[in-house]
Amino acid sequence: MKGLILSGGKGTRLRPFTYTGTKQLVPVANKPVLFYAIEDLVEAGITEIGIIVSPETGEQVKAAVGDGARFGARIEYITQDAPKGIAHGIKIAQTFVGADKFILFLGDNFIRDGIVPQVNAFRDGAMHAQIILYKLDDPSSMGVAILDDAGRVTRLVEKPKQFVSPYGVIGIYMFDPHVFEAVNSIKPSARGELEITDTIQYLIDRKLNVRAHLLTGGWIDTGKMSDILEANRLVLDVLGARNDGQVDSASIIEGRVVLQSGAVIVNSTIRGPVIIGERTRIENAFVGPYTSIYHDCLVQNCEIENSVVLEQSAITGAPARIADSLIGRNTEIARAGGRTRTIKLMIGDYSKVGI
Ligand code: G1P
Repeated sequence: MKGLILSGGKGTRLRPFTYTGTKQLVPVANKPVLFYAIEDLVEAGITEIGIIVSPETGEQVKAAVGDGARFGARIEYITQDAPKGIAHGIKIAQTFVGADKFILFLGDNFIRDGIVPQVNAFRDGAMHAQIILYKLDDPSSMGVAILDDAGRVTRLVEKPKQFVSPYGVIGIYMFDPHVFEAVNSIKPSARGELEITDTIQYLIDRKLNVRAHLLTGGWIDTGKMSDILEANRLVLDVLGARNDGQVDSASIIEGRVVLQSGAVIVNSTIRGPVIIGERTRIENAFVGPYTSIYHDCLVQNCEIENSVVLEQSAITGAPARIADSLIGRNTEIARAGGRTRTIKLMIGDYSKVGI
């Protein structure tokens, strides 16, 4: 069985981060979200992996992931010339997949408990395809599955305008080579893409054995900021404490805290669950629960909690506690100088500030 990970897309809902970075490389608990997908596949025994990249994201993804050796996998890259849909991604991977069964994993989907049971069921069973459903009050931003009384999938609707079913189809799909007939037959949708929902509907309409697995553990599509913070909380909740850094005697470490190598804590309180990245310095500060500070940052004279800070950023003062925030790479947050109570901002396009 092979693995196929989609790591293209523009990431419009995660602007401004995605102007300079790929959405699948946004870190969750100091690890790019894409790495969790690779690790989930490897854990399920799938080590031959193709990653579909776009011309814009390709170099960054290749630089971060490499040839797969560090994951115990062999990774190939396939470039999708334009965002023509998930099913188009399958189409261009036909040579890579060959006659094997495969798992298609959308690189921004995050699943807390991995995919071992689902992959095992698919490997051993007689199914042609398996999809994974997640029950939601409002799945209207997803592909949605309608089931019959026996729990079989009868119909799929992409982003329904009216409520048709509570079962969203998450971005982890399992197929055998019958899927290539589907992706080579369907036509682009109104948004100009070859849709994954139309692909699966094609298989259902031809009476192929399409099964659905209802997921009960945590799942998040990390396409929006609040989702990144939620995924960050899910991972920090199960991370074991570890200290590969240095803590001075004036500092207090409470709860589960991971200090990555070269992290330095000076005269500060860190209340876990928290992860502090490599070579990051925390000084005269409070870092509260559910915070991930990535590599090479400086956090000084301030308080921060329930937030994700990307690499090489410096927060050197804030008049109030920073909370529920996603802070990009190479940013600076400092107290404004001068005698008046001013707020001084240099904010990129599509940024959001709560004052
Ligand atoms: C895509 C699929 C949709 C699926 C979702 C899962 O949506 O089209 O069917 O439910 O991924 O994350 P998109 O992220 O392209 O809006």
